[in-house]
Parts: sequence; structure tokens; C-alpha cells
Amino acid sequence: MKLNKNHIYDGLVTLTWKDDAVVLIDQTKLPNKLVYRTFRDYNDVARAIKKLMVRGAPAIGVAGAMGLALACIRSRANSKSDLVIELQHAYDVLRLTRPTAINLLWALERIMKISRRGKTVMEIKQKVVQEVQKMAEEDIEINRRMGKIGSGLFRDGETVMTHCNAGSLATVGYGTALGVIRAVKESGKSIKVIATETRPVLQGSRLTAFELQHDGIDVSLVPDTGVGILMARGVIKRIIVGADRILRTGHVFNKIGTYQIATLARAHNIPFYVAAPLSTFDFKSNVEDVVIEERDSKEVSTMAGKRIVPRGIHIFNPAFDITPPNLITAIITEKGLLKQPLYKAIRNIFRVYGTQHGD
Ligand code: MRU
Repeated sequence: MKLNKNHIYDGLVTLTWKDDAVVLIDQTKLPNKLVYRTFRDYNDVARAIKKLMVRGAPAIGVAGAMGLALACIRSRANSKSDLVIELQHAYDVLRLTRPTAINLLWALERIMKISRRGKTVMEIKQKVVQEVQKMAEEDIEINRRMGKIGSGLFRDGETVMTHCNAGSLATVGYGTALGVIRAVKESGKSIKVIATETRPVLQGSRLTAFELQHDGIDVSLVPDTGVGILMARGVIKRIIVGADRILRTGHVFNKIGTYQIATLARAHNIPFYVAAPLSTFDFKSNVEDVVIEERDSKEVSTMAGKRIVPRGIHIFNPAFDITPPNLITAIITEKGLLKQPLYKAIRNIFRVYGTQHGD
């Protein structure tokens, strides 16, 4: 991690609340341009989430909460009840942007709770703004804690694989899976990362490669189709990924391709870790209840604006898949390491800390 002289996080910060606006890195422009965009209308934040300007479960959560804060401070409502009705409408718009990452629901609920508790319009506006700033700070702290806990699993000089982008760019800063990698490096161990390209949106080659290079961490790329041969050659010692949702059973919803990497890892006896904050856990749903986002087929049928598939071909483009708990070595959270049997470890940690979703 990049720390400045005051030991404050000094790496890429994906989104911030500044001067009553949301400022975020437009990730659709990476790696060629580092562009920051400012939003003052929650509808624009919703569009930014849909278009993947901001993506990654924790970042989507905080962006959604900040969107709701924009709706709150811009509201002209004169009474608490009118304000809450307006916020409920903004909540619905933001909630519908992306269905799979539970962090979005968690973050929006957190803001709604604050607004329902407030007594006056003025008080609600103040408290909601304070809360989104707190959420952004907490996100970095949680990732740093997860990093410290996870870094003990890695030995000096290892080469590890990651999929998609679970880094600074998927959070407010520091990252979940890449946060652990940053913490390994900070602990004085050397580490090499192999990032998968992550077709079709290329979060691995565009974002993970960009941010690790930005922080001076050794990173190489492999096409998604090259994962098997690298494992068979013994190049990869461990795998670490993030998550969009983890069920009480230990089923992990994450970027499409995670399941096949976990399956190959098991076939080659390679430890497979998931790093995720408690806000990524969903205690209510069963596997079949979770909506897996199906994205536009153009993400697959075109490359750099050019069609690469014959017209009339049906395309499947699910954005996420499900890795069953038996393929996971351990889950790294900010409260500790969850080992097998995962359902028991998850139950125990939530008995101590309560569910983040208030259920
Ligand atoms: O479609 P995306 O880019 O939002 O998908 C992101 C992922 O799948 C990440 O691995 C996940 O959100 C964890 S981010 C810390």
C-alpha cells in the first residue's frame, strides 16, 4: 500500500464525496486515461453504475449510497415524510442498476435507516452526508484489516493468480483480494501476480494490471484460456479473488470464470481463497434466489467497437458465476479467516458480529 508520511492511504481512491458531489474514476477509460467524473444527480450515478464507470461490489455499494445522499441533499421536501418518499424512489432507481452484488443493497439500506431515524429534514441531510463519508473511510480500513489477516497465508516469493479486479478500483481504496496482495508486499515478502484478462469486459487486463503496475507490484497477464496450463506447469502457488455475494452456505458469487478457475485449482491442489468484507454476506437467500446479471451481448460480439461474431448467433453473457463451498480453501474477512466447514465458520462469525443486513 502507498502510505504517506502520516500513514494515510495514498494509493488510487476510486470514489469520494467532495463539495456535495460524488467524484469517481471513470473505469471505462482505463487503462489509457485516468479520468475523474463529478456527479451531482443520483440518476447520473445510477447510469454510471450500469455502464461500469464504477464497478466491483464494495465500490458499487458506496457509489449507490453516495447517489442516495445526492438525492437527499438536492431534495426540496419540506417534511421528513416527503423526503423519505423521495429517497425511497431514488433507492429503487439505484437498486435496480445491478442485481448481483449484495453490497449495493447493504449500503442503500444503511442510508435509508439513517433517514428514517432522523427527526427533521435538516438533520437527515446532515446525517446522511456524514454517513457516506464514514462508509468511504470504513471501506479502506476494512480492506487494510483484511489485508493483514490474509497476508499470513502467503509465503515469500510466491506467484499468485487473481481474476477480474478486486482491488482499489473495486472498492473505495486498497482492495479486497488485491488488498491482501498489497499487504503481503508491505510485510516485506516478495510476490508476483498473474492476472487473468477476464473477458468480456477485461477487468483483469484493463484494471488489475493498471492498478498493480501503478503501485509497483509485479504483474503479468494471461488470457482466461491460459489458466489451466499455468496451473499444470506449477507456476501458480495460490489463487485469491473477491466476491459479489457470499451465502450462509459458503457459495460465492463472483465474476464469470471464477468457478472454472476454482475447479482447476482443486484439480491441481492449489489453495483457493476469497477475500470479502462482512457486508458481502447474504444470510437470507438461497442459491436459486440470487439474480445473476445477464449483460448486453455486445460485450461479447464486439471488440473495440468492431463486430467479431457472425450476425444471428445467440450469445450468453452472464456476468457472474457460483463457486460451491467445497472448492474454497478459506474466506478472508475483516473479522478473521473462515475455514472449512464454511457454513459453520460463517454461522459462528455472524453470531459474534451480527449480520450486516440487520436480519
Ligand atoms: O462486473 P464487475 O466488474 O462489477 O465485477 C466485479 C467482480 O466480480 C469482483 O470480483 C467483485 O465485485 C469483488 S470486488 C472487491
